[in-house]
Amino acid sequence: MKNYKLAVVGATGVVGRTVLKVLEEKKLPISEYVLFASSRSCGKKINFMGKEYIVQELTEHSFDEGFDFAIFSAGGDTSKKYSPIAASKGCIVVDNSSAFRMDKDVPLIVPEVNPEEIKNNHGIIANPNCSTIQAVVALKPLDDKYKIKRIVYSTYQAVSGAGSKGIEDLENGITQFSASKNVMSFVEGNVPNTDYLVKFPYPIFNNCLPHIDVFLDNGYTKEEEKMINETRKILKRPDLKITATTVRVPVFNSHSESINVEFENDFDLDDLKNTLKEGCNIIVQDDINNTIYPLSSFANGHDEVFVGRIRRDYSVDYGVNLWVVADNIRKGAASNAVQIVEKLIYS
Ligand code: A2P
Repeated sequence: MKNYKLAVVGATGVVGRTVLKVLEEKKLPISEYVLFASSRSCGKKINFMGKEYIVQELTEHSFDEGFDFAIFSAGGDTSKKYSPIAASKGCIVVDNSSAFRMDKDVPLIVPEVNPEEIKNNHGIIANPNCSTIQAVVALKPLDDKYKIKRIVYSTYQAVSGAGSKGIEDLENGITQFSASKNVMSFVEGNVPNTDYLVKFPYPIFNNCLPHIDVFLDNGYTKEEEKMINETRKILKRPDLKITATTVRVPVFNSHSESINVEFENDFDLDDLKNTLKEGCNIIVQDDINNTIYPLSSFANGHDEVFVGRIRRDYSVDYGVNLWVVADNIRKGAASNAVQIVEKLIYS
């Protein structure tokens, strides 16, 4: 079998570092890796695959030398500029940003859901938004069996999804709280100062922010719009009725989602639970008598999607409520991207 050459772009970031970890675990037939980041990290050393790698600055000539694949996790602007250059040189790009997700010529892939679309790529394959990935892994087997009519998403998203700056805001908020030794000042809302914030408009410590990505003219956030549009594209249900509220919560890692689903067809609840249990990379954790339900702290470090609190929605004819949790940095980004490369190699 051919030995491949792969670039990791954004190798110093939260997702990029996890991409390296997942690559170490997967042991794909890749013989050459090059790690790229911005000029800020040029020359930095990273231990990877038992060797020391020197981070290279990403430039317009980075892809001149025969790459087979590149995983980009360096933000939308970097992807917009460099992905087409890489693709024009014969490299297949798996892009973690939102830059190309809704392009009709760019497949938007979750390997458990629509792997058949991978072959339709023209050099760029998009990795969906983290909150969309975990939702569609759970929803696909249900859509196949009962046909979804409407979805209401409410998310509880971890700060790691906002990159290293998001994590920094929560860490600094905790440090400030610990130093103040005054719970009541936080209960009463007298947060001493917010000068430390580098990512969010308000402290994420002790708050839930109903604001992820920018606000749009229709009052939704871009994150909410991404969940709606990407779900439709991945499930190939362009007219599916979906609404979403996306919220950042003071959790370091792993997103939680309340998903309310209405079906066209009736279902038996045990049958629906079994359908989820048989689904690809889904783990059902649903035993309320023993206080078992999905939690971020269980999902951290895993690639599966955890589903629980599965119960009928009695307010409609054929509805169900789900609680869906997954590691947003692994399954929501890094692992999904590496799985796509794996599919490209082995199919
Ligand atoms: P750098 O560390 O040099 O800034 P995160 O969102 O977790 O902070 O990670 C962002 C990643 O994207 C980092 O690896 C960062 O590299 C990389 N990055 C940001 N801007 C560029 C750029 N213009 N070219 C290449 N990599 C970039």
